[in-house]
Amino acid sequence: KSEIIIAPSILSLDYSEVDRQLEELMASDAKWLHFDVMDGHFVPNLTFGPDILRGFKKKTSLFMDVHIMVDDPTFVSKIFIEQGADMVTFHYEAMNSIEECIVLCKEIQKQGCKCGISIKPATPVEVLDSILEYVDLVLIMSVNPGFGGQSFMEDSLERIAYLDNKRKEDQYNYLIEVDGGINDVTGKKCIDAGVDVLVAGSYVFKGNIKEKVKSLQCQK
Ligand code: DX5
Ligand code: ZN
Repeated sequence: KSEIIIAPSILSLDYSEVDRQLEELMASDAKWLHFDVMDGHFVPNLTFGPDILRGFKKKTSLFMDVHIMVDDPTFVSKIFIEQGADMVTFHYEAMNSIEECIVLCKEIQKQGCKCGISIKPATPVEVLDSILEYVDLVLIMSVNPGFGGQSFMEDSLERIAYLDNKRKEDQYNYLIEVDGGINDVTGKKCIDAGVDVLVAGSYVFKGNIKEKVKSLQCQK
């Protein structure tokens, strides 16, 4: 199995110390940066727009993993791709049907970006069956999206295992990512269940960033 990818979520970054924290991140084993884009409608919180992504692109070559929690993924994906997103992951619940999700997924890939699909904890994982052959990544939300610092929902592990089995059976290539309440203990459980990418916000940015990232990575 290939190496676990750590994607620190800049939702938990301390913006009064952004330069120092970004340097620590770049000196760590993290390969991705996770951007939580929230529109105040799809989730009850508001974060940042594409200019912030462009600012980060000037400072780092980390892989830009953009998670859009918005009502209008078609519009929002486009503006983040224009500013250099490497992966855009949108929510199934924001679209009218899985067929519509497949259309948007292909549009995102046509623009030269990788595409992920995400589901909230209350959405059954099987709704994604027909899009699995197209997507580059599936993101399992292990908390209700909107805020950092919540506790990991244990039933996410079954959802991860389902996707891992399905990928083996049907020979699909997507990565499996998990987001919400990830720390050294919950991260290990997800790795055992078959996850490839761990998103971590509050855990990574409280304390020594480099050591926190390492503690997530070193547990295969
Ligand atoms: C939650 C976001 C997460 C969040 C995770 O809606 O999608 O990416 O930053 O934060 P922690 O790791 O603190 O649960
Ligand atoms: Zn996220």
